Amino acid sequence: MKKTVTTFAKAKANKEKLTMLTAYDYSTAKLMDQAGVDSILVGDSLGNVVLGYEDTISVTMEDMIHHAAAVSRGAKEALVVVDMPFMSYQTSVYDAVVNAGRLMKEGRANAVKLEGGVEVAPQIKAITAAGIPVCAHLGLTPQSINAFGGFKVQAKTKEAAEKFISDALAIQEAGAFAVVLECVPEKLATLVTEKLDIPTIGIGAGAGCDGQVLVYADMLGMFSDFTPKFVKRFAETGAAMTEGFKAYINEVKAGTYPSAEHTYAIDDEVIEKLY
Ligand code: KIV
Repeated sequence: MKKTVTTFAKAKANKEKLTMLTAYDYSTAKLMDQAGVDSILVGDSLGNVVLGYEDTISVTMEDMIHHAAAVSRGAKEALVVVDMPFMSYQTSVYDAVVNAGRLMKEGRANAVKLEGGVEVAPQIKAITAAGIPVCAHLGLTPQSINAFGGFKVQAKTKEAAEKFISDALAIQEAGAFAVVLECVPEKLATLVTEKLDIPTIGIGAGAGCDGQVLVYADMLGMFSDFTPKFVKRFAETGAAMTEGFKAYINEVKAGTYPSAEHTYAIDDEVIEKLY
């Protein structure tokens, strides 16, 4: 059964934890979907993980649509949430609605995600009014990395924590169905989780959130450019891949691959006539 925003609301009401992972391609999305993840986020971390950029700023609408469509084809049950890239919604409410619509129509998203609090509440309201579910994103919002001056824990002072709480209330009021809380102190994330009616999905925000999200390449040990403190490696897939690549190279060089079992036969009398 396809998971929906109602699944998210019910999970919050029943105090059941939600699981979300990022994916950027069909095969990975299919594996996650079959494993039973509630939601797949086509994050703009695509820029770092897949495209090799140093941040998410350069990611385009075309990048997001291309990868969202691939993920959507693999995700039969998980709710597919797609990130709105930098400058696809900050510029105006009109741009936000048009671009959210493109992610739904061309990327086959089930919902969109955008970063920011009270300043993007009008965009959240308008996108939601157009029938598109919106997941908000507060705390360390990577599209604002230049304003933050680096990847740092957010909302640690009284003023910043108060702003964080009022942002959370504003995005809920605007109609967001869920909110990602990234890289904020655990006690603050827990407090916001208690204050909100919508589910909170934490990443570096502790166990008090209603759910968790991780970048799949981080949690599988495939991405080593930068590993934040909050990442736990649930598998060493990167090491396993390197081993597999080396074994392939060695066997091809040694002439032991391909062997008979990987080879197609032809009748001897046919091949003899060709010499
Ligand atoms: O782009 C992304 O992967 C994200 C997660 C870190 C939540 O926004």
